[in-house]
Amino acid sequence: MERRLVYVTRRERFNAAHKLWNDSWSEEKNLETFGKCANPNWHGHNYDLFVTVKGYINHDTGYLVDLKDLSKLIQKNVTDKLDHKNLNLDVEFLKNGMTSTEILVFKIWDELSEEVISMGAQLHKVLLFETENNSAEYYGE
Ligand code: NI
Repeated sequence: MERRLVYVTRRERFNAAHKLWNDSWSEEKNLETFGKCANPNWHGHNYDLFVTVKGYINHDTGYLVDLKDLSKLIQKNVTDKLDHKNLNLDVEFLKNGMTSTEILVFKIWDELSEEVISMGAQLHKVLLFETENNSAEYYGE
């Protein structure tokens, strides 16, 4: 049977509050660096998370993975933990860290990569849109 490497992507969404803040800096330096993103009373985003996995097709199903299963895996390990939360305060796997999109993508990767292997695929990319115009992506490097 022919082996074809394919990539499959699932989108999940979550809403969350955060602020950009470096605890080791003064308030003045934080406000100067991060501007409105350092607003003391937080601000929110409607995040769009795209998770891409890769692997070989199962010829019985025609699938790489069942996207319903991938959806549940992302919800259980990531979006249920982030949705309607304060990313700076409420989330165990982000604890004591900053919450820029760049940091979120590799923290999310770490929550997913082993789990995806257990589905018989490999995590390829985590892409996170913070706004329509701003996103970050991570490939595990
Ligand atoms: Ni923000």
